[in-house]
This record gives sequence, C-alpha cells and structure tokens, in this order.
Amino acid sequence: MTRIVHVNGRFLPETEAVVSVFDRGFLMADAVYEVTAVLDGRLCDFSGHLARLRRSLDELGIANPMDESEWLALHRELVARNGLVEGLVYLQVSRGSAGDRDFVFPPEGTPPTVVLFTQAKPQLVDNPQAKKGLRVISLEDLRWARRDIKTVQLLPSSLAKMQAKAAGVDEAWFVQDGFVTEGTSNNAHIVLGDRLVTRPRTNEILHGITRASVLQLAAEAGLMVEERPFSVPEAQSADEVFITSASSFVIPVIELDGVAIGTGHVGPLAVKLREIYVEALRRTAL
Ligand code: PDD
Repeated sequence: MTRIVHVNGRFLPETEAVVSVFDRGFLMADAVYEVTAVLDGRLCDFSGHLARLRRSLDELGIANPMDESEWLALHRELVARNGLVEGLVYLQVSRGSAGDRDFVFPPEGTPPTVVLFTQAKPQLVDNPQAKKGLRVISLEDLRWARRDIKTVQLLPSSLAKMQAKAAGVDEAWFVQDGFVTEGTSNNAHIVLGDRLVTRPRTNEILHGITRASVLQLAAEAGLMVEERPFSVPEAQSADEVFITSASSFVIPVIELDGVAIGTGHVGPLAVKLREIYVEALRRTAL
C-alpha cells in the first residue's frame, strides 16, 4: 500500500508530496516537530504532544496553523487513510518559504509548511529491545542551548547515534559538565532504591511527554521522584536505568560505557513501568 502523507492541506501519495527548496525547514532547520505513538489505531498522550507543539511554535514565533480539534481531526484522518494500527505519526511545521534564501524571516502572513506522515511499527509494544535492554555510551552534548524546543536540528543526535552504532552499542547519552542531559531521542532516568532520579525540565533537555506520564505513574506506584541532574558514575552504580520516549515508551538500559548496570539484565521496575504505561495508553489514547 502506498503511504499517504499530508502536505499543506492535501493528502497525497508519498511519491507526489513536495515542498519548496526555499522552505526554511530545509534551508535553516527553522521548523518544529512532534512524534505521536499510535496504539490500536488511536493517538497516545495526544494532548501533551499538542501542548508541546504549541509551546515550540510560540518560542520561535511561528504561527500555529490549526487549533486542537483541527490537529486531532488531521491526525485521525491520516491514521485512517493509512490503516495504521501500531506506529507513529510524524508532524512537522516550518516557518514556510519566502521564495528565496534569506536570514531574515519571511514577511508576516507567509503560511507555515505543514507535513505529516505515518510510520508503521508493528513492534512498538512487543519491542525486542524492551526484553533485552540497551547498551549505551556517553558522549559530549554538542547541541544548542534551547533543547526544550523540539526543532528539527537533529544532526548532533544523528551523529551521536552513528557513533553508538560504530561502537557496537544501541544508543548514546549526552553529557554536559559531567552530568547526563538526555539520550539522542529520549529522556534518561535512574533508579536508586525507591527513588527515581531524572534531570529537571530546563532549557537543557526536551520536556518529554512520555517522561511526564511515566513520572506520574511512578509516583502513583509509590516511587519518590527526585528531579536533579545525575552523572555517568552515579548511573553506572544505580539499581536500574531506563529511557523514555514516544517511540520506545520505556526501555531498560543494561550497560553504560561498558559497565553493567545492577545485575546486567533488564530491571523489574523498568519492566513494570513499561507495562503500566502501555496499559494507561490503551485506556487513554484518542
Ligand atoms: N524524540 N529527548 C529528545 C532529544 C527527543 O528527541 C525525544 C523524542 C525525547 C522524548 O520525548 P517524548 O517522550 O515526548 O517522545 C527526549 C522523538 C521520539 C523522535 O525524535 O523521534
């Protein structure tokens, strides 16, 4: 089946969908994005993703082209047109194109470029990595200072992911001034006894939607949530370590910079949080 994508109000086969070469998303990474998980054909944590989209657009002064009900209807229509049961919806809004390259923003009223596409991921829930756990290396965080805005400036993350791959491991965590910021495309967490330690929501990390939901579920399950930075050695000596994101939910980390975490196998708490989170998503997805 040919994938149907959405571009500026039109649903098109992916091979016919185009944007201008002068689009500021393409020339200047002047664009923001969201990735929403789809389970049972329904959208997960959707209001959180829309709230963050609104915030990212506001921070960059890009006009939000749609209200909440229009975004929801558009996502639902794209999911339906592609028969998506389990996977992701990618959404990108750029500042649009002024028909030329210029560091100055295009004139007021230039329409933003809106692109959405689906990615089928039949193993989003039944993910083998959730059973095996991840091996991670730490790398210096070379990204810009506004990581709280979900822009498409993903080159440092992509390069870090390739470094992890070249090192024969699954993922990389960024480190700044001796403390872990986050993963290439996920938030990082450690468990010390009955405490879940995670970096606070500043400009240095993306304010993960999965992070927020999982922290709430963890607190309800009796864990103490401590929002503070942690170092690589502290993570290496933690009882458990895990990541969160819309595309991975909760995945245990079993090794960091060659050091086994805990028993060296997936930890029971991360497994439990993943189960609880997936159950919650199945109940609340729109
Ligand atoms: N990435 N930190 C970074 C740098 C991210 O790119 C992501 C998400 C997260 C987790 O955020 P959330 O829980 O809202 O997905 C944290 C998406 C999945 C991506 O780029 O594919």
